[in-house]
Parts: sequence; C-alpha cells; structure tokens
Amino acid sequence: MLFLTGCGRSGNTGANQSTSGNYSLPATTRGAVPIPLVGNAVRGKKLFADNCAICHGKLGAGINLVGQNLQSSKLVSSLPVAKIVAFIKHGRSATNPNNLRHIAMPPFGGNANLTNQNLYDIVAYLRKLQ
Ligand code: HEC
Repeated sequence: MLFLTGCGRSGNTGANQSTSGNYSLPATTRGAVPIPLVGNAVRGKKLFADNCAICHGKLGAGINLVGQNLQSSKLVSSLPVAKIVAFIKHGRSATNPNNLRHIAMPPFGGNANLTNQNLYDIVAYLRKLQ
C-alpha cells in the first residue's frame, strides 16, 4: 500500500497547460522555430546503402521493376530539399496516379532508424548523384 504513492501521480500537473492560451515555446522545440538542417552526403551515402539501395541500387541507378533511377530523377534534381525529405517520409503508393510503375515506394516517416537529419543526409547524397 505504501509504495503505490510513488507512481508519479502528484507530478501530473502539466495536462491543463493549454488553458493558458500561451503558445510561446522554447526556440529548440521542434516546429516552433524551424532549424534548417544541412545534409552530410558522406553520411547519406552509407544511410542510402543501408536503407534504399536494395531497391534503387547502390549508386542510385535504379533496379528494373524494383526502384526508380534516382540519378536522372527530376524530383530529386528540381524539388526543394525539404520536399524531397517529405516525399521520402510519405512514399508513393502503387495506386497513386503519379506512380509511374505501379510499384510502391514505401514510406520511411515512421522509421526509427531514420531521423530527420538522416533523411537530409540521404538527400544531400542523392543531389550529388545528379
Ligand atoms: C521496396 C523498394 C524501395 C525502397 C526500399 C526505397 N524505394 Fe524509393 N522508390 C521505389 C519505387 C518503386 C519508386 C517509384 C515509384 C513510381 O514508379 O512512381 C521509388 C521512388 C523514389 C523516389 C522518386 C523518384 C522520382 O523521380 O519520382 C525517390 C526520391 C526515392 N524513391 C527515394 C528513396 C530513398 C531515399 C529511399 C531510402 C530511404 C528509398 N527510396 C527506398 C521503391 C523503393
């Protein structure tokens, strides 16, 4: 009985913070003040090899019927980096009208091994392949 009080119930006071209507957040809070990420292509190369090369080939040249050629990809060469990162997070389903081959590009957004920084690193590498 005595030990049950140690579960942290008394510390649970943060739940009604939203009633203050004050949205000022510390600058480091994600989403409050976007901190531009700079990709590192060297790290990106390894991350690409581990996560993407199985479908896109080690040098991004594509694998027929599995993954698109990313060296000649207009999406990679022309979209802003943040949009390419967003694409990789969302993927492209096989039924998406923009899907060229009706093979899905899997979404990587929930992948615990790929942080935002990791994705920017990968995109830095992809841009080098162009
Ligand atoms: C299971 C296979 C598979 C894996 C793994 C995969 N992709 Fe893809 N990816 C595809 C397919 C298939 C397409 C093309 C879909 C289509 O035809 O529109 C694609 C398309 C893309 C495109 C768009 C190319 C364009 O010009 O439209 C990018 C960029 C891309 N992938 C990046 C990545 C990155 C980065 C990774 C690793 C984090 C990755 N992919 C992992 C299968 C894969």
